[in-house]
Amino acid sequence: MTIASVVDRWPDSARIFARYTLGCASCAISKSETIAQAAAGHGAGRVKLDDLIGELNVFADTGKLPEGAPPAPSLAAKGVPRGMAEQKGVKHVIAVMSGKGGVGKSLVAGLLAVGLKRRGFSVGVLDGDITGPSIPRMFGVREKPMSADGKTLVPPKSRGGIPIMSMNLILPSEEEAVIWRGPMVSGAIRQFFSDVQWGELDYLIVDLPPGTSDAPLTVMQALPVDGVVLVTTPQALATMVVTKAVKLVKQLGGDIIGVVENMAYVTLPDGGRLEVFGPSQGLKLVIASNAPLMAKLPIDPAIARDADNGDIENYTSPETEELVENFMTVAPMKGPPD
Ligand SMILES: Nc1ncnc2c1ncn2[C@@H]1O[C@H](COP(=O)(O)OP(=O)(O)O)[C@@H](O)[C@H]1O
Ligand SMILES: [Mg+2]
Repeated sequence: MTIASVVDRWPDSARIFARYTLGCASCAISKSETIAQAAAGHGAGRVKLDDLIGELNVFADTGKLPEGAPPAPSLAAKGVPRGMAEQKGVKHVIAVMSGKGGVGKSLVAGLLAVGLKRRGFSVGVLDGDITGPSIPRMFGVREKPMSADGKTLVPPKSRGGIPIMSMNLILPSEEEAVIWRGPMVSGAIRQFFSDVQWGELDYLIVDLPPGTSDAPLTVMQALPVDGVVLVTTPQALATMVVTKAVKLVKQLGGDIIGVVENMAYVTLPDGGRLEVFGPSQGLKLVIASNAPLMAKLPIDPAIARDADNGDIENYTSPETEELVENFMTVAPMKGPPD
């Protein structure tokens, strides 16, 4: 196995590698190297491969680290910025997260914003997912943010009056965004929070980068997130991504306020339901996250169409109404809408 794959699966094993002077578990060289290659190439050949493998096996089997293993690397060492960004006008920051891409995370972020706006709350959307321009596209926003004073940015607004901030509105091409590294992304997102004129907002909905690695983690660390909404699809539960995502939020001391099962089924012309991605995992999802199921959203061609056409603000369905109603019962709230 490569060092990267071991550390990915058992994060604390990095501490064992560090004992053997292979501590650079996150650097590019050792990432692609197998344990044997790294042992031969680093530490001037002094690394005792058998001992290392032995300790790793003990750790994998029992979860016990050898005595004398160095402490876990601090978040600061991982490039996580210290201190939270501030934004006085924003009452609540809600992060929307998913273990993997393509499950409808951006869509749920958009639907929540639209639903809350319809109910009279002031809402903004911070697109922290730079893997694609889903948020600007779904709201039909193309203008670049403006800066009058050279210090703060005025975010463009959707037709319905929702301010939107996204890296995808600034970078010249989509390709450019994907080569950004985690710390750069989180630095930019901090600024999108603190240096943007959001005005008075009841809720700022943050579309987090997908996955359970450094990208969503650094964003979560940089912003004062009040609650996390976890989005998944029925088949994702089987792949452990949900468990990983839940662990990540807990590690950060975050609070999952609800889970959304997206693409749960499709309604057939005869009214029947076809569970395209297998049976609903709603109950298991609730158990895994220890949070309420806020909605089971069907696959609906109208959602895809409206999202693609920048018309998400015109979309409504009983299921998305339920999503927003349930959100309001669990979401942190300070007073009535302004
Ligand atoms: N319930 C749904 N019905 C129909 N299309 C959906 C649904 N959920 C998501 N989609 C579509 O699937 C694609 C991926 O959704 P997106 O929200 O961008 O996923 P993520 O942000 O998790 O990567 C988008 O084109 C979106 O419009
Ligand atoms: Mg997305």
